[in-house]
Amino acid sequence: MTLKHFLKDDDLTVAEQAEVLDLAAKMKADRHGFPALAGPKSVAVVFEKPSTRTRLSFDIGIAELGGHSVVIDAQSTQLGRGETVADTARVLSRYVSAIVIRTFGDDRIEELAAHANVPVVNALTDGWHPCQLLADLQTIAEHKPLKGTSIAYLGDAAFNMGNSTVIACSMAGMHVRVGAPEGYQPAPEVLERAAQINAGTGGSVTVTTDPVEAMAGADVVSTDAWVSMGMADSEKRIQELTRYQLNGELLAHAAADAIVLHCLPAHRGEEITDEVMDGPRSRVFDQAENRLHAQKALLAWLLKDR
Ligand code: CP
Ligand code: NVA
Repeated sequence: MTLKHFLKDDDLTVAEQAEVLDLAAKMKADRHGFPALAGPKSVAVVFEKPSTRTRLSFDIGIAELGGHSVVIDAQSTQLGRGETVADTARVLSRYVSAIVIRTFGDDRIEELAAHANVPVVNALTDGWHPCQLLADLQTIAEHKPLKGTSIAYLGDAAFNMGNSTVIACSMAGMHVRVGAPEGYQPAPEVLERAAQINAGTGGSVTVTTDPVEAMAGADVVSTDAWVSMGMADSEKRIQELTRYQLNGELLAHAAADAIVLHCLPAHRGEEITDEVMDGPRSRVFDQAENRLHAQKALLAWLLKDR
């Protein structure tokens, strides 16, 4: 079996992303019809940051696939007392068929993957949230064709969700419009990578500081927390991002049938208002549900014999 990790969105090829999304849709349509983890498969799911959706959706998804999950907070393991990531990878690889981990810097997950001989899956790092984007794309595909559809991403676009939205949506051939102030825009290397991908998929990325310009006629609208896990300077960030709040007034600039996404947890009254979160265009709870289906598909795909 070829060892494949999923540390960032483009660790799948464009065709592989489509394949996983197709499987996710089938798994949703027949939730208990895919005990796909052939043989006794155990998966370690490790958290160095808090989680509700990722924790539950992996745990339940692995059970539904016929596997066994061991969900642990790193603080309760020897990682919390300084055992190295490399040694942890070597040890876990002796027990489990895959390692899912939520951690801080991407150097940590890269180190883990370098020393693991089972697939490693990114359950959120500072840089990327690729499992979330599979669920986001699944949710969009339930309403619109992915290719050619536009998505406005507002607010902090320089962290995990912004980066993953830019790359995963480019892979799907979407037109990404980032609306973010200076200092919160995707790094040049992320935009360069997106441009390479878009040369093949026909997608595009535009970046503007004007939230109305980003929103104008958008088919999908997405945002994320202004103060992510592990960030300190919250007052400053909230002040600098206020203009990008996803509220009714801003949403009025999107397409009439635009859908609203948010990976959750939402900070109601900050990056999104109650009116939008609870409004008729919101698909945020479908999106949360799709974490389950998308991750089941991903794991089944990663662990299949090839
Ligand atoms: N969206 C997401 O990853 O949620 P959790 O932090 O609750 O896992
Ligand atoms: N950007 C957020 C996403 C939470 C799922 C964070 O990292 O806290």
